[in-house]
Amino acid sequence: MPDTKPILVLNGPNLNLLGTREPEIYGRDTLGDIQARCAAHAKTLGLKIDFRQSNHEGELVDWIQGARKSASGIVINAAGLTHTSVTLLDALTAAELPVVEVHLSNIYRRESFRHHSYISAAATGVICGFGPRGYLLALEAMADLVKPARKGARR
Ligand code: DQA
Repeated sequence: MPDTKPILVLNGPNLNLLGTREPEIYGRDTLGDIQARCAAHAKTLGLKIDFRQSNHEGELVDWIQGARKSASGIVINAAGLTHTSVTLLDALTAAELPVVEVHLSNIYRRESFRHHSYISAAATGVICGFGPRGYLLALEAMADLVKPARKGARR
């Protein structure tokens, strides 16, 4: 039987400003545009999504803790918290779910403080540098990861 729990798609601080925030780096799509593209793509993949954004680390932690029961996987763009938050790493590790980390920009072509991600240690995989398309690629990866009994898949 297919997993019917949604994929939690989490967005961290300042991503609510997409569309107007440094468009030369992050593009002109708003977070609402990205949400709509994710919802449409998820449908074609047979997935449901629960798309959220918060500027508050604790709220993101609460949502990740909740996902343990209510979601089948987590796609996360932790934004600036990527580079600072052991707390998010701990929450993602405790969730024991497949996790795909996404960044719109290629964090490795940017300032050196963006080259380290605390949360990658809890991620099944990382996608960065493809703009909003990265979210769609993450959902495609997730569709595979949540399929039951996929031999050899590492979560
Ligand atoms: C980001 C990259 C982070 O370094 C930055 O702090 C963000 C967005 C991205 O999607 O490219 O807020 O996660």
